Amino acid sequence: MRRPLVVGNWKMYTIPVRSKELASSLKSNLGNCDWADIVVCPPFTSIAVVASELEGSTIEIGAQNLHWEKEGAFTGEISPGMLVDAGCRWVIIGHSERRHIFGETDDAVARKVKSALESGLKPIVCLGESLRQRDRGVTKDIVKKQLFEAIGDIRDISRITIAYEPVWAIGTGRTASPTQAQDVHRFVRKIIFENWGHDSAAAMRILYGGSVKPDNAVDLRGQEDIDGFLVGGASLKAGSFTAITTAVK
Ligand code: PGA
Repeated sequence: MRRPLVVGNWKMYTIPVRSKELASSLKSNLGNCDWADIVVCPPFTSIAVVASELEGSTIEIGAQNLHWEKEGAFTGEISPGMLVDAGCRWVIIGHSERRHIFGETDDAVARKVKSALESGLKPIVCLGESLRQRDRGVTKDIVKKQLFEAIGDIRDISRITIAYEPVWAIGTGRTASPTQAQDVHRFVRKIIFENWGHDSAAAMRILYGGSVKPDNAVDLRGQEDIDGFLVGGASLKAGSFTAITTAVK
């Protein structure tokens, strides 16, 4: 049995004082959660305050991005070691907003995944097709390509989580139907089975992301290959994030 995982991606919202409040409410609602792993990914400037607020709870912290180098003249970037030092255990890599708005390539995603693993961070690798790609019927080709580019030459994938996030469902209020999501999740698990073997496929947690809300979480989670969620908008309110986490039980 795979333990459910729920990740909150706070994106570029919440200044530290607000992050502290949100973390504090999450700690009282979910700080002793024993049915799922929970990760919150605040903006960089809030990581320290959230880490200190969540001390003594089971909620862990992730970053939303990183640079693959350990240090150097890389203005505006942040290294894996800096994130670990600040209290992060996880990192989101290849989010569609990084890929589409900031031009992050498959090659950069692959470097980031390797570097994160070397530093002891657990990568949450995002994959997903655009609306045009879905309409052209190439969803699975895209997801397969992104998956291989990101982790294809990594042998031990036990610390990696995959997040399937159809680009057309992110922040749009349009969710993939449970059947649409399950179809891609099953496909991803099949690729992992064929290339990494049974144990890796059975253990891999594949999250769904894209307009997850308390009222669609139960049906999505009811699908065999959906092991949890990567939540954007609804992770900014303690009530809705708690309800979504309760839905994965
Ligand atoms: P959303 O974002 O839940 O606001 O659609 C999901 C994500 O970007 O990870």
